[in-house]
Amino acid sequence: MTLQVVGISGLPRICADDDLAALCAAQFPATTWADGTTGLRDGDILVVTSKIVSKAEGRVISGSDREAAITHESVRVVATKHTPRGITRIVETRHGLIMAAAGVDASNTEQDTVVLLPVDPDHSARELRRALQEASGLRLGVIITDTMGRAWREGVTDAAIGCAGIRPLEDHRGRVDSFGHPLEMTIVAIADEIAAASDLVKGKDSGMPVAVVRGMQAWTSEENGPGARTLIRSSSEDLFWLGTAEAMEVGAQTAIERRRTVRRFSARAVEDIHIEAAVAQAITSPAPHHTQPWRFLRIHNEKRPVLLDAMRTQWERDLRELDGYSDESVAKRLARGDLLRSAPVLLMPFVSLDHAHIYPDAGRTSSERDMFIAAGGAAVQSLLVALAAHGIGSAWISSSMFCSDVVRETLSLPSTWQPLGAVAVGYAASESEPRQTLNVSDFLL
Ligand SMILES: Cc1cc2nc3c(=O)[nH]c(=O)nc-3n(C[C@H](O)[C@H](O)[C@H](O)COP(=O)(O)O)c2cc1C
Repeated sequence: MTLQVVGISGLPRICADDDLAALCAAQFPATTWADGTTGLRDGDILVVTSKIVSKAEGRVISGSDREAAITHESVRVVATKHTPRGITRIVETRHGLIMAAAGVDASNTEQDTVVLLPVDPDHSARELRRALQEASGLRLGVIITDTMGRAWREGVTDAAIGCAGIRPLEDHRGRVDSFGHPLEMTIVAIADEIAAASDLVKGKDSGMPVAVVRGMQAWTSEENGPGARTLIRSSSEDLFWLGTAEAMEVGAQTAIERRRTVRRFSARAVEDIHIEAAVAQAITSPAPHHTQPWRFLRIHNEKRPVLLDAMRTQWERDLRELDGYSDESVAKRLARGDLLRSAPVLLMPFVSLDHAHIYPDAGRTSSERDMFIAAGGAAVQSLLVALAAHGIGSAWISSSMFCSDVVRETLSLPSTWQPLGAVAVGYAASESEPRQTLNVSDFLL
């Protein structure tokens, strides 16, 4: 297979309402190939820089409107790049293309003007093809290109943003390579490869916006085909939907709301490394007097029933003797504690009051204790949020706070350790119900 790319020279500077097809077709006879022959033939592909298509379609605006035009041409910002020259917005355009500045470009256009991308590059390609074929009597393919930067790679290349009469993708899946290995993933972006090849001839500064590619007739078709839109990966399939900084920001902004109380866990084990990472986050919480009063006990499986049975005995006594509940009602309440028995991991958070000040008066001593309990609560919340960031669910259950002495005794803990409840940890068995929407104004007073 031999591929040839020849530039179409002699085109005038393109202006609004110019008949691009007629202007190109007029240059066909003078187009000279390596073997000295001239003119185009069936199966040739005309590759046209989108800039002149846009100009012919009147998509030129004043340079002062550039930023507003980028906003108008964008459906979302993918990433923002700060450079000494200012801020570059990498956006998804209305067409679904991911491009710096929505493809709004000040190069190769009159002073103080910028050029927008064609409204519908596939439609432009189809129209151009129809008119070119009419004018020449040939069967041609058309690709409209624009220059794009790329993730991971330095340097820009041209890509197809519109096409007609060619198959933009070549699906190799199901074929075998030269070693007989089946190809499972390979789909080649033929239209982009042709676009990039043609740019080697068209160039950015040669004033040659159109080239003809010969040798790819096997990829051309009678019908217009699906267009370059098929080269756009749907956002649901895209692993790189946001820039790294933006994705991290979204993660940070939604970390707190991702935490939900999970009351049914799957059997999936939680790795120690995630528990350690969550505790490492929790112990960055604020605390009074520059202390680090939090303690998290991981209750081993053999100790778990001993502890939970002791807690349950006191709870049952409280429900019967102090609250006077019926047997049925007691049984129903006690069953709620089963979550702590079955959760893959059980953590017991404590706050140590060792460094709490003791005042001469009971009032301030009690406030001091409240202050440490508040700090303990902050650390437990941090723990739960950190677990949620790893996709791990949790339920913060109050029980141990109502039987502090039993907990301390069963676990042989100092009297200064105040239990802050129990935390059941594991992967959720099902999705949480959506959160109830609360009015911030009811809380921010
Ligand atoms: C200190 C504390 C104690 C809690 N105790 C219990 C409990 O004993 N049983 C329970 O099912 N949930 C308990 N919860 C969880 C709340 O019921 C839960 O946070 C609330 O329903 C809101 O749901 P969400 O966490 O999914 O936003 C407790 C929460 C906190 C902060």
